[in-house]
Amino acid sequence: MNYFITGGAGFIGHHLANHLVRLGHHVRVLDDLSAGDPETLDPRILFTRGDVRDAPKLWTLLHGIDCVYHLAAKVSLPQSVLYPRDYNDINVGGTVNLMEAMRAVGVKRIVLGSSGTIYGDQRRQPVDEKVVPQLLTPYAVSKFASEHYMFTLGVHYGIETVALRIFNAYGPGQALPPAYPPVVPKFLYEVLSGGTVVVFGSGRQSRDYVYIDDVVEALIAAGQNAAIDREIINIGSGVETSVGALVHQIEQVTGRQAHVLRNEEQGGGVVRLVADLEKAQRLLAYQPRVPLATGLRRTLEQDARFRRLLPPGQLTPQMA
Ligand SMILES: NC(=O)c1ccc[n+]([C@@H]2O[C@H](COP(=O)([O-])OP(=O)(O)OC[C@H]3O[C@@H](n4cnc5c(N)ncnc54)[C@H](O)[C@@H]3O)[C@@H](O)[C@H]2O)c1
Repeated sequence: MNYFITGGAGFIGHHLANHLVRLGHHVRVLDDLSAGDPETLDPRILFTRGDVRDAPKLWTLLHGIDCVYHLAAKVSLPQSVLYPRDYNDINVGGTVNLMEAMRAVGVKRIVLGSSGTIYGDQRRQPVDEKVVPQLLTPYAVSKFASEHYMFTLGVHYGIETVALRIFNAYGPGQALPPAYPPVVPKFLYEVLSGGTVVVFGSGRQSRDYVYIDDVVEALIAAGQNAAIDREIINIGSGVETSVGALVHQIEQVTGRQAHVLRNEEQGGGVVRLVADLEKAQRLLAYQPRVPLATGLRRTLEQDARFRRLLPPGQLTPQMA
C-alpha cells in the first residue's frame, strides 16, 4: 500500500512511518519541521519539507496514495491558550486544506490523529466515545473541529474517515521542548539529570499513558480496515495512573530518587482521564500490550538522550 503521513517527522509520525516501511509499504512524509526531525526517518521514506496548508504541494504528494495519516498539528495545550489563531490556522485549516486536496486528487481514506484531551473533565471514568466533550483549551477545540470537518467533508467528497482519540502517548524520541514538554520525557529527564520534578497539588491527578508501539498498532489497524468509516475510536492503555504513581515508577526504572517540588494546584485542570477501550477492541481488535514500567524501560533504553544519563552498568539485561 501507499501511505502519506502529514507530520510524519514528529514523535508519533516517525514511529508509524518507519514501522509501515518495515512492513513493506511505500511511505511519503510531509512535515514543516517546526517540531519534527527528518533524521529519525528510514531512508526508504520519501520526505518532503512543507506546510500542510500548501495545496499545490499536497496535490503532488497525494498522487497514487491509498491512505492518509493526518498527524501534522501544533500540540501544546498551554501554548494554544496563548496563540489560539495559530492552532486554528494549522490544526483546523490544515485539515480542511488536506480534505480539499484529497478530493482533488481522488484519495479515498484518511485517519486523523485526534486527542483524548477533547473529553476534558468527566466525572465518570473511563470515558467512552459517546460522552459529550468538554473543550477546555483551544487545542481541544481545534481537534474537535478537525474531526467534524473531516467527517462532514468525507461524506460530501466520498472519503472514508476515522478519528483516533489518542490519550497520553509516550516513548523514545518524544520532543522535549523548553516550554511545556510532555510529562513523561520531562520527568525522566529531570530525575536522571538530578533536576526537580514539579507536581501540582496532591499529585492525585491521573492520566492514561499509552506506549508508542500500541499507538502505532492502532493507527495501522485503522488505516487498513476499510469497513471502518466515520468512526471515533479511543486509543489508550485503559490504565489510570496518578502523577504520584508515575513519579514512583520512574524512580523504580531509573534507580534514582526524584526531587519533587509541590506547587499550588492550578485551577481548571483535568483531574482524571482514562480511556474506555471497548470500541477499539471491537472495531480494531486493539489490545494494548506494553505496561507502563516496560514502556518506561524501553524509552530509557532506546532514547540516547536518556541512555547517556545512566552510568554504563545500569543498562542491565533486565532492561531489555
Ligand atoms: N503525543 C500524544 O500524546 C498525542 C495525543 C493525542 C493526539 N496527538 C496528535 O497526534 C499528532 C502527532 O503528535 P506528536 O506527539 O507526534 O507531536 P509532534 O509535535 O512530535 O508531531 C507533529 C508534527 O507535525 C509537524 N507540523 C506542525 N505544523 C505543521 C504544518 N503546518 N505543516 C506540516 N507539518 C507540521 C511538526 O513539525 C511535527 O513533526 C498530532 O496531531 C497530535 O495532536 C498526540
